[in-house]
Amino acid sequence: MSSIMVTGARGMLGSEIVRTLGSAHAVVGVDIGEFDIRDADATVDAIRRVSPDIVVNCAAYTDVDGAESSRELAFAVNATGAGNVGRAAADARALMIQISTDYVFDGEKNLPYVESDAPNPLSVYGESKLAGEQAVAESGCECLILRTAWLYGHGCPNFVETMLRLAGEQKPLRVVDDQEGMPTSSSDLAMIVAGILSTGVRGLVNATNSGSCSWFTFARRILDLSGSSDIIIEPVRTEEFPRPAKRPRRSVLSLARLTESLGWEPRPWGEALADYLTERQGR
Ligand SMILES: NC(=O)c1ccc[n+]([C@@H]2O[C@H](COP(=O)([O-])OP(=O)(O)OC[C@H]3O[C@@H](n4cnc5c(N)ncnc54)[C@H](OP(=O)(O)O)[C@@H]3O)[C@@H](O)[C@H]2O)c1
Repeated sequence: MSSIMVTGARGMLGSEIVRTLGSAHAVVGVDIGEFDIRDADATVDAIRRVSPDIVVNCAAYTDVDGAESSRELAFAVNATGAGNVGRAAADARALMIQISTDYVFDGEKNLPYVESDAPNPLSVYGESKLAGEQAVAESGCECLILRTAWLYGHGCPNFVETMLRLAGEQKPLRVVDDQEGMPTSSSDLAMIVAGILSTGVRGLVNATNSGSCSWFTFARRILDLSGSSDIIIEPVRTEEFPRPAKRPRRSVLSLARLTESLGWEPRPWGEALADYLTERQGR
């Protein structure tokens, strides 16, 4: 049993990680109410007090479009804040697990991205998360950086919930069909984190459910699995759906390093989605 501190514990992923790791470890979940990761001294004090073996940093500024007009805040949390957690982890001699994103890539590669591929973020959010990876790597702590993608989970706004809400309004939907990525269940990612803790793997590791699709295909599957096959979804191009932040056209990640480290491959995104929708009904 390890002692684990999870920052961003009230967020979508953080809450799932607290729940999942809590069954086998002593877990302390903290969020901005306990301390702000932008405050270096408060972060060191809080981590020193708990003295965990592992810190999982799920705290982040995650508004991809909002970051375009809030660059300073996105960098303060995602870059400086992540570096503060890294230095505090080093001070406490804890392993740090940092959560990063596929949006560090520009999406122009036609093959799945491996961890050693050169990043080239298209958005402020992606830039700030990449700066966070670098800050953590330079902080002096022992670290594992997991790059994940297209997360959904219970109790927080996300693409799955948005599609279900819009379907409930019985209106035809328009969804982008020319951006490909890897939908990932927060609870599956939490299981991946639980599994990878006991391995000695360090550095960068891609971590998502397996398989990829477009937002349109993802939306179609959400509605089909939730009994709304009758709702029409119109596939549209990115240009027809302008957003402040530019997104990668094809951010597909290779899971070879993750699979080798864990000894098992994360399940396909469609299976994880089906389970999420079933669990959601029971809530
Ligand atoms: N969501 C996705 O699709 C996705 C995809 C790839 C990677 N990721 C990464 O996965 C991680 C978790 O994402 P998520 O979707 O679970 O995020 P989330 O739901 O937005 O949770 C982030 C949590 O961090 C807290 N927080 C924000 N600023 C903080 C600060 N300065 N100090 C302490 N806590 C702070 C937030 O509090 P408030 O709510 O009060 O701000 C929130 O509880 C992030 O690193 C994100 O970049 C997410």
